[in-house]
Amino acid sequence: MTSETLALVIFTAILMQLVILLLVGLYRRRLQYRGLNEPTAEADGMSVPPHAGALPATEPIISAPAWTEFREFFVQRREMEDENGDICSFYLAPVDGMPLPAYKPGQFLTFKLQIDDPDAKATKTLVRCYSLSDRPRPDHYRVSIKRVRPPADQPQLAPGISSNFFHDHVPEGDRLLIKPPSGRFHLMEDAPLPIVLIGGGIGITPMLSMLNTLLESSAQRVVWLFYGVRNRKDQIMKRHLQVLAKAHANFHLHVCYSNPTKEDKEGIDYQHSGRIGISLLRSTLKLMRYQFYVCGPKPMMEEMVQGLKGWGVDSNDIYFESFGVTAPFQHHRPDQTSANTAAMNVTFNRSDKTLTWDSAADSLLEFAETNGVEVTSCCRAGSCGSCQTPIASGEVEYHQQPTVDVEDGYCLLCISRPKSDLVLEV
Ligand SMILES: Cc1cc2nc3c(=O)[nH]c(=O)nc-3n(C[C@H](O)[C@H](O)[C@H](O)COP(=O)(O)OP(=O)(O)OC[C@H]3O[C@@H](n4cnc5c(N)ncnc54)[C@H](O)[C@@H]3O)c2cc1C
Ligand code: FES
Repeated sequence: MTSETLALVIFTAILMQLVILLLVGLYRRRLQYRGLNEPTAEADGMSVPPHAGALPATEPIISAPAWTEFREFFVQRREMEDENGDICSFYLAPVDGMPLPAYKPGQFLTFKLQIDDPDAKATKTLVRCYSLSDRPRPDHYRVSIKRVRPPADQPQLAPGISSNFFHDHVPEGDRLLIKPPSGRFHLMEDAPLPIVLIGGGIGITPMLSMLNTLLESSAQRVVWLFYGVRNRKDQIMKRHLQVLAKAHANFHLHVCYSNPTKEDKEGIDYQHSGRIGISLLRSTLKLMRYQFYVCGPKPMMEEMVQGLKGWGVDSNDIYFESFGVTAPFQHHRPDQTSANTAAMNVTFNRSDKTLTWDSAADSLLEFAETNGVEVTSCCRAGSCGSCQTPIASGEVEYHQQPTVDVEDGYCLLCISRPKSDLVLEV
């Protein structure tokens, strides 16, 4: 054998060894990732964490309230949170001065507002939800509200009623009626997994509550925050987030600007240009099991949730919430040609009312409200779970897919109508 042939044999043998090692490595990593998604002995000891998409029947949809119905709060302090002056935090203390119940980070408050309607020359009642944006504290709650302007492509439309009311007509000292914290989208504190928080725009608020809670706890769970906004002008609590990132080695901040301004500096003001996407997560996160929490505009949320599932993340590790849209254009008007026009009775058991269904009604929620039956509601778009109601008998049909799981035997009144005579426990 010539020396050239020997060198070639040795080179080929080394190359083959390298290829085999590489393949074994890749196979192991794949097994490791799959294994992380299997229930471990540790995880078996805990019950599988319930999430916005899968609650065990025993867990109530709304956390145990310390008060029922509406309690009076006053605005202790207001604080602008972004350069644009579009996001304002409201610090809310109870008028009775009694301690506040804790809540699960990620939950929201429901407000009842009395707003003057100049067109109708009357006052109208509006109910809206706003996520708690800080960790639980015994003396006050905090929400951070974005002023909703008319859509950019339809400037002739009215601006958001409730958000503009908060910004323009709720000064410090003003009183507000508030329901106890509720909601099924919240931090699962008992599962010791690293956490990935993904917030788009104002969808950052529940993430702030989770982040502040996690970083103040002694658990030292690793937290990644991916926060998407257009640029620094839209960014909320910029300094607070930067200070946290410097102070906590277990917190990794990744701010994405989709449309940075000339003053925005990559690596200082933000980490990535462009929107948050699954490819960014894949290139940034180490391959291991995480809990993912997603909140943002509906398209981003749908893309992220699908993308995570496509990446192989177990759906039990994905928690999500959409803020929904309450605008009238979203409302579904029944198609009279296809709608079931046969006379149907709807009984609201607890309100002791039996009424003939009005086929022009948008939803069972609207029908209930029109007839003086009080129902808790918030997003009115099938995404918060507030209006979930037990069905005693009969069937409903949905005119839009819920983005929250509905327990067996329950329905979401805001996006459903009766399919037969119906008896509801409300
Ligand atoms: C669980 C949950 C948590 C939330 N948390 C937060 C939070 O932390 N912070 C926050 O800022 N928001 C939050 N929201 C959103 C909030 O509840 C409100 O939906 C938001 O403030 C808009 O309400 P609005 O009354 O100001 O707007 P609306 O009056 O409901 O109007 C909404 C939009 O519709 C447009 N519109 C109005 N009329 C028409 C028409 N005829 N045709 C077409 N378009 C029209 C308006 O221009 C506006 O863009 C949350 C929502 C939910 C469900
Ligand atoms: S009001 Fe939010 S799901 Fe019905």
